[in-house]
Amino acid sequence: MIERNADLSGANTLALPARAERLARPASEEALAEALAARAAGEPLFVLGQGSNIVLDGDLPGLTLIPALSGIEYREQGDTARVTVGAGVVWDTLVADTVTRGWRGLENLSLIPGTAGAAPFQNIGAYGVELADVLDSVDTLAVADGRPVRFEAADCEFDYRDSLFKSRRRGEFIITGITLTLRRHGPCRVDYGALAARFAGTDPASLDPATVRQAVIEQRRSKLPDPRELPNAGSFFKNPVVSTAHHDRLKAVWPELVAFPHRDGMKLAAGWLIERAGWKGRSLGPVGMHRDQALVLVNHGGARAADVRALAAAVRADVRQRFDVDLEQEPVLLPGR
Ligand code: EPU
Repeated sequence: MIERNADLSGANTLALPARAERLARPASEEALAEALAARAAGEPLFVLGQGSNIVLDGDLPGLTLIPALSGIEYREQGDTARVTVGAGVVWDTLVADTVTRGWRGLENLSLIPGTAGAAPFQNIGAYGVELADVLDSVDTLAVADGRPVRFEAADCEFDYRDSLFKSRRRGEFIITGITLTLRRHGPCRVDYGALAARFAGTDPASLDPATVRQAVIEQRRSKLPDPRELPNAGSFFKNPVVSTAHHDRLKAVWPELVAFPHRDGMKLAAGWLIERAGWKGRSLGPVGMHRDQALVLVNHGGARAADVRALAAAVRADVRQRFDVDLEQEPVLLPGR
């Protein structure tokens, strides 16, 4: 079923007003292939999950698809499980299901908004784990001819919040499902940031995934606003990577600078830079940077895309001026230019 002139204000977690010219929510691969086949030549195409990592900058022309394929299937082989998940499954529903069954691997990714199908697009990550660590393969339909194409994890060009689906081959494939490999035994990953402090002195092998999930949920709830209460799209900028020399110059001025070693230099905490640039808890019009996590841009009510653009530009300019660092926007701008 195709809905015309569909309201998308509830289909993006920043709650920006926008409409889709034509909107479909295909619940099977067949329905998805049909929607693709019925598309006019050259008609624009957009794919959304829960809309938790997008900035809607105006209406979406052409066809918008929200894949609604469901199902979580387990194939257990001794100590591991292959889990195949439909693209429309809510990510945290999947995490909760695997953890309840005692499988390890997704607990650090608890409570990330979005769908399973959107997870590979930006290689979601949190607390030292990213999707690429547990992903086996991604099933897609090729937009050009509707044929199924499977990508093994090694071929997805995963990087920090990036993949072939988001970058090099953007728009060519629609993700229909993902397959993960999870473990029954082995240590949990609790060496990162807030988890390290919480579990200091605990043997990671003695932890069960439910305990780690609970800690992640508490940590996220204490810092990250729930989009249903305060609309947002998670981290609004990527954590920037700078050269070691650049890092050393900053560190000399700000000894408390937060940075982590990275293969191309040092990765800085964008939230720290934004806070030091004076933007934590500060608003510009109806939007602002969150009071508990300066990296999250929030809509206090009634914001339009222009408000988001203005705040993002102001934050970026101040961070550039103070630290000589260029912040890159993390959520995808649609319909894009
Ligand atoms: N910090 C500040 N001020 C702030 C925010 C952070 O000084 O306002 C400092 C913190 O004290 C900490 C450091 O910056 O020392 C890192 O902060 P945090 O652990 O909160 O993580 P992050 O780097 O800001 C990243 C991801 C999050 C993910 C968390 C937890 C990105 C862009 N963001 O944030 O992912 O949940 O780590 O692992 O990589 C998302 O992608 O939407 C997202 C929320």
